[in-house]
Amino acid sequence: QGDVFTYDPGFTSTAACDSAITYIDGDKGELLYRGYPIEQLAEKSHFLEVCYLLLYGELPDEGQMKDFEARVTNHTMVHEQMHYFFRGFRRDSHPMATMVGVVGAMSAFYHDSTDINDPWQREVAAIRMIAKLPTIAAMAYKYSLGQPFVYPKNALDYPSNFLHMCFAVPCEDYVVNPILSKAMDRIMMLHADHEQNASTSTVRLAGSSGANPFACIAAGIACLWGPAHGGANQACLEMLREIGTVENIPDAIRRAKDKSDPFRLMGFGHRVYKNFDPRAKVMKESADEVLDLLGIHDNETLKVAKELERIALEDEYFVEKKLYPNVDFYSGIILEAMGFPTSMFTPIFAVSRTVGWISQWKEMIADPTQKIGRPRQLYIGQTRRDYTDVAKR
Ligand code: SDX
Repeated sequence: QGDVFTYDPGFTSTAACDSAITYIDGDKGELLYRGYPIEQLAEKSHFLEVCYLLLYGELPDEGQMKDFEARVTNHTMVHEQMHYFFRGFRRDSHPMATMVGVVGAMSAFYHDSTDINDPWQREVAAIRMIAKLPTIAAMAYKYSLGQPFVYPKNALDYPSNFLHMCFAVPCEDYVVNPILSKAMDRIMMLHADHEQNASTSTVRLAGSSGANPFACIAAGIACLWGPAHGGANQACLEMLREIGTVENIPDAIRRAKDKSDPFRLMGFGHRVYKNFDPRAKVMKESADEVLDLLGIHDNETLKVAKELERIALEDEYFVEKKLYPNVDFYSGIILEAMGFPTSMFTPIFAVSRTVGWISQWKEMIADPTQKIGRPRQLYIGQTRRDYTDVAKR
């Protein structure tokens, strides 16, 4: 028909946009946020500073950081009427299912920040989402437990406030353990952005039609839930538990290589990283550190994870296919040690990735060359034919 298409299923070699936010060199195992190496940020920065960096492009000075913190904490509560919205869900709903619904409904509560043509409204929507996603994730968790919702405590820093909303109960005093708070901050930072991954591409595609930012982030959350993407952290810990002991590892490796068996090593492999995922390295160190500081020695899951990594990295199949542990391989071990059930692992990824999604959405909206996303296809169906009446079929 005169149109020429490039056939690229899975977009393995298609750049869909320009972006100045995150850089990945998959061969070198390098990840930069706005030019800064992830290892340096993990050591020296903190999550809310990284949020500022991703959103505005530069590290904040002291005054800018204080102002940003104040703006975020000003928006941590959700509209009181949203509490009733939660009550429409079954108690045993997966928290990700609840989050997709509640975040999608935010555009009904905060319609004063849904005009995408107004830069001020875009800014308010961004701050609202960064501020409220931890509250919503914690509420989804509390709801699943049948416990009362815990209001945010704005005197606490961002990760501590999240832990407080998840673990505080009215009948007891809850003091956030600084070790857990630091570990949560690092997990959030390592997940904050990752260029055009599936959920971010979903946010951009949804946003390209002019959909409001809350709807776009809800779409991103829905995409993230899949086990090939953000759902892998839950699936990985469940896999490690199922393997159970180091003696069972060879069988798991055998199954992962068997193409007739759907079993895959969760938390292994990456579309872009073909050497190592730098986040997994930091996460592995963090897992050791956190378990040690918490006095958890001889953690069987961590033992299985380390041995599985060692054996897989010596196996011809994994070496040839360049399959290495990814960000989700060790994160679950830390989250489990903190007391989170596996169903909360992907919601925590969603809370952390919100800043990346919204930064990428803002970048796209501000780009004057931006067009609606509209892939084409190679049609493989029937050629033209005439309708037959039902009696003749
Ligand atoms: C995230 O894109 C991002 O940036 C994502 C992310 C982010 O921060 O946003 O980094 C977060 O999603 C991490 C990935 C989490 N997913 C998992 O851990 C699930 C297990 N991994 C895979 O399913 C897989 O490796 C992907 C989805 C991560 C990558 O898929 P690709 O690039 O499409 O590669 P592929 O599935 O085509 O695999 C290539 C080959 C295949 O074998 P062959 O057909 O060539 O013989 O490697 C094999 C695959 O079968 N393979 C695996 C494997 N992963 C790939 N074999 C066993 N175990 C695995 N985990």
